[in-house]
Amino acid sequence: MTTPTPRTWRLDDHDGTAARQTLVLAATGDRLPQCVYWGDPLPPDANLTTLAAAHAIDVTGGMLDENPDLSLCPEAARTFPGQPGLILRTRDGTPILPRFLYVSDDRNGDALDLRYADADHGLRLTFRFATDPSTHIVTARTILDADAPVHLHWLAAPVLPAPQLSDEMIDVSGRWCGEFQLNRTPWSPGIRYRENRTGRTGHEHFPGLLVPCRGATNTRGEAYAFHYGWSGGHRMIAEELPDGRRQIQWGHAARMETHAATRFETATLHATYSRTGLNGCAVAFQRHVRDRIVDWPDRSRPRPVHYNCWEAVYFDHRLPVLKDIASRAADLGAERFVLDDGWFGQRDDDTRSLSDWTVDPRKYPDGLGPLIDHVHGCGMTFGLWFEPEMVNPDSDIHRAHPDWALGAADQTLGRQQKALDMGNPRVRDFIHARMAAILGAHDIDYVKWDHNRVLPMPDADQTRGSYALIDRLRRDFPGVEIESCASGGGRIDFGIMARTHRVWLSDSNDALERLRIQHDAALFLPLAVTGSHVGPRRCHTSGRVLDIRFRAWVAAQRHMGFEMDPRELTEDEARVLRDVTAWWKRNRGWMTGADILRLDSADPAVLAEQQMARDGGRFVVFAGKAATSAQIAPRPLRLTALDPDATYRIELANRADAPALSRGTPLLKDGPVDLPGTWLMHHGIVLPWTYPDSMWVVEGHRL
Ligand code: GLA
Repeated sequence: MTTPTPRTWRLDDHDGTAARQTLVLAATGDRLPQCVYWGDPLPPDANLTTLAAAHAIDVTGGMLDENPDLSLCPEAARTFPGQPGLILRTRDGTPILPRFLYVSDDRNGDALDLRYADADHGLRLTFRFATDPSTHIVTARTILDADAPVHLHWLAAPVLPAPQLSDEMIDVSGRWCGEFQLNRTPWSPGIRYRENRTGRTGHEHFPGLLVPCRGATNTRGEAYAFHYGWSGGHRMIAEELPDGRRQIQWGHAARMETHAATRFETATLHATYSRTGLNGCAVAFQRHVRDRIVDWPDRSRPRPVHYNCWEAVYFDHRLPVLKDIASRAADLGAERFVLDDGWFGQRDDDTRSLSDWTVDPRKYPDGLGPLIDHVHGCGMTFGLWFEPEMVNPDSDIHRAHPDWALGAADQTLGRQQKALDMGNPRVRDFIHARMAAILGAHDIDYVKWDHNRVLPMPDADQTRGSYALIDRLRRDFPGVEIESCASGGGRIDFGIMARTHRVWLSDSNDALERLRIQHDAALFLPLAVTGSHVGPRRCHTSGRVLDIRFRAWVAAQRHMGFEMDPRELTEDEARVLRDVTAWWKRNRGWMTGADILRLDSADPAVLAEQQMARDGGRFVVFAGKAATSAQIAPRPLRLTALDPDATYRIELANRADAPALSRGTPLLKDGPVDLPGTWLMHHGIVLPWTYPDSMWVVEGHRL
C-alpha cells in the first residue's frame, strides 16, 4: 500500500535571531491536517515529510488498521475515538457527519490559512493561524461556512495536542472574592471537561489552561499554555484517548448559538510553548495582552493612580463629602477619581434604577458638573461607573419595555436585576444614547463597566451584542478608557481585553487574598491592566485588619489605586500611603513594560515575584509573607532570568519596616549589596525575619 505524500506546513515565531517554538502541521493526502510537532524550534531544513511519517504511532491488536488523525478538527465520520471538533445538524435536526477535504492554503507573513470543504454537505472549514515573533503567542481560530443554514452544537478552535511527558494539567476556577484559583488534575484516560454556561466569562471557570511537562516549575522546565478569548462562557476538553494521545479543545460553550446560520466562528485561541517554565507562558500572555490586544487610547500615558469611592460611600453620595474625599485622595497621590454606583436614577441601594442612566437630581442638583470640576481642580481626571447590560425590574425602562429584558418573566433575579437583551439593536441603541449623553456632556476619561449577574441562559448573541455596544462607544469616545468589572473578576478574558483597558480583578480588597489572586492571575495578565486598590483598614469583605504597609505594597504590585475612605487614615497611614504611591509613580514607567516572573519560593508561606525590565537592567522583587512560616528563619529566595555573569546591586526599598523581632544582621538590613547573578539565582537572597501579612520589596540593578 502506498501512502500519499503528506501536505505539510510549519509555523515558527522568529524574533530576529531565533524562533522560540515550531509547530508542524501535516495532512495525509487531502484529509484535515494534524499537529505533528510543537515545541523547541526545529532546524530550518528539517524534512517535514519524514517528521509526519515519524509521528505515526503503531497499531496492535484491538485497534483499527490505521490510527485516526488527531486533526485540527477531529471528525466523528473518520472513526475518531474521542470528542469530535464539530457537532452540527441540519435545520430539521438531522445530524451532519462531515468529512472535509483540502481546498487551498494561503501564507501571508506570519499568518497561515488552511481551507477545507465537504462538498456533499455544502460546508467549508477554515483554520486561521498566526504567530507573533515578539510575544510568542500562536493565535488560531476556526471558521465554518455552510451553503444552507445549519444548527451548531459545538465548534472547536483548532485542536492541538497536549504533551505526553506531562503528569497533570493546571486550570483555573474561582469565586466572588476568590478569583484565579489553580487546580491541578492528573492526566488519565478520559476527559477533563470544563464548561461555563453562565453567559459571561465568569469567576467560576477562567478560560485558561497550563500543561507543565514533568518537573516544570514557575522558573524552569517545559510548559504549554492556552487561553480562549471569549466573554460568553467557554468549553474546554482535555482528553486522553485510549491510545494515549491527548487533545485540547476550546470553543464557545456548547449550544450557545441559538439559531441556524450559514457562518460560525470560534473566538481566538491563544497558545504558547515555553522552555522557561510556567513563566515563559505567563510572560507570553502578559506581553500579548499589553502589546497586542489592548487598544490603548494613548500608549505613552503612564497608568494613573486611581481613587474609587465605592467602599468609602457606597450609595450614600453627598457632594461635600465626595469633594472632601477627592481632595484627600489627590493629596495622597491619586490621579483619577472614579465615581462608582449610586449617581443615577433613584439608586439608593442595589434594588432599583439600573438602566435609568440619568443623574439623580436629589444627590446632584446641578448635575455631575460641580463634582467633576472639583476633581479636575484637584489635578485628577474623572471616571464613572455604569452597568450597561443590566436592568432592575424597578426602573423606568423596565416598566416601559419589559420585553427588553433577556429571559423569562419569572426568572430568578441576580442582585435584584435582569440582563437586557443585547442581541436586540434597539436595546443597544437605547443604552448607547444614554451613555453617550453623559459621556458627551462631561470631560470623562474612564468608564468602570460592570456586569454583576450571570445570564438566564448562555446565548452567543448576547456577547456579540455587548462587544458591538462597547465597540461603538469606543469609536464615539476614543479617549475613554474602560475597566472590565463583573462583581470583581467575572469578565476577564482576551476578548473583552480587546475592548477595555483594565480589569477589576476582584472585589476583595483584602491585601492577603489579593496577593494570592494577583500572583496566580499573573500567569495571564500584565501589571498594565490589573487593577489593585488599597482597601479599608478593616476589609469590608473579609473582616481582616491589615497594616497599611502591606495593603499599600500589594496594590503597588499592579495598577495601583485606593478604595478606602481617606478620612479613616491616621497620619502615619497617610504618610506610608503617600510614600509607597510616590515610589510606584517613580517606577511605573519601566514596571508597566516589565515581565512578571513568579518565583519558586522555598517557603510556601512566601508568595514572591520578580518584575523584570525588558532590557534586563533592573528588577524589583515583591516577597509577600502570606502566612506564618513553619521554620524559624526565612529561607533564601532564589531569583530568576538574570545574567549569571553579571553583578547586581540589590537593596531593600522598605528596610525601615523590619520589626524589632528581627534581631540579627542580614546584610540587606544595612543597605545595598552587590552580588553575582549566579548567586542570586542559585543561593538566593536572604531577607530579614518579618511578620506574616507583610511584604519585602527588593530593588535590583545590573551593574
Ligand atoms: C460590583 C463591583 C464593585 C462595585 C459594585 C457597585 O459589585 O464589583 O466594585 O462597583 O458593583 O454596585
